Amino acid sequence: MTHPTAPTAAQADAFATDVYGGLTQSPQKTLPSKYLYDAVGSALFEVITHLPEYGLTRADERLIKAHAQDVLIRLGPVSTLVELGSGSGRKTRWVLEACALRQPCTYYPIEISATALAHCSRELSDIVGVKVLGIEREYLPGLQEVAAMRQGESPMLVLFLGSTIGNFARPDAQRFLCEVRKLMRPGDALLLGTDLVKPLQPLIKAYDDALGVTAAFNLNLLVRINHDLGANFDISQFQHEARFNPETSAIEMHIRSRIRQSVDIPGAGLTIGFEAGETIWTEISRKYLAPDVLAMSAQAGFTSADQWIDEDWPFAETLLVAA
Ligand code: AVJ
Repeated sequence: MTHPTAPTAAQADAFATDVYGGLTQSPQKTLPSKYLYDAVGSALFEVITHLPEYGLTRADERLIKAHAQDVLIRLGPVSTLVELGSGSGRKTRWVLEACALRQPCTYYPIEISATALAHCSRELSDIVGVKVLGIEREYLPGLQEVAAMRQGESPMLVLFLGSTIGNFARPDAQRFLCEVRKLMRPGDALLLGTDLVKPLQPLIKAYDDALGVTAAFNLNLLVRINHDLGANFDISQFQHEARFNPETSAIEMHIRSRIRQSVDIPGAGLTIGFEAGETIWTEISRKYLAPDVLAMSAQAGFTSADQWIDEDWPFAETLLVAA
């Protein structure tokens, strides 16, 4: 029997290619942040959302809980709901319930993590009037699939919550919004969650918590490379680091090599050296200014219908309508 989370040949191949490409990059080694979310990584992220330091998810959930009705009043009956990166589905419940009050709808969570998708489908399958159809794909191909099979004339609502858009550099976020817009019809809507600029201290702590859960989340990337690509990273010789880059207004996660060392990654056909103190850049988490979200969305062909901001943990929920 195969291991339940064993990657398919094509997935393993893409991972090997991306690891090779990222670790041979000079001067800054990188790894794509999407690979943080294997079964262990998704479970660790779920724990992060409950940590006292990580106010982001609670702010997102407060806003959605408070305004789900407003969103549906604004849009009228919605038959198709899509979520890019569903995670556990905890905050989505509020939107689905508000939607199903008006008419039966189909909810398509799009997720590359099979475990997260399974959790979310289970968590939300009890809502009367909502049919859940999970799609295990990258965001844009997944959205394209939904756009091709949606039925009826009522608008589609796309959810992109939790500030996942923060994982794109500014120009990539802009391009991504344009691509999303192209897969929507005029009148369709996008509910976009973005973490906002805030004081440095709580921000750094949110990405470097006292328990070390975020450190484990980050270092798990090396564990995954060991497991999937037969590498020999000695995890104890690497260290989690979170820093704020004021030029890009982003938290960056890095993995720092404590010593000068060499690592074999047979599955990627690579032996790679690290200098003492050298880092692998694993994630960008951009912090927006609320007006900038509106500017970027307008540029992508959306008009803004509303924007709600959490006062306790500066975070914005923006309702955008495809023009
Ligand atoms: C799920 C992408 C929003 O960037 O804050 C949490 C991921 N990284 N702690 C974020 C994350 C480190 C998270 N997002």
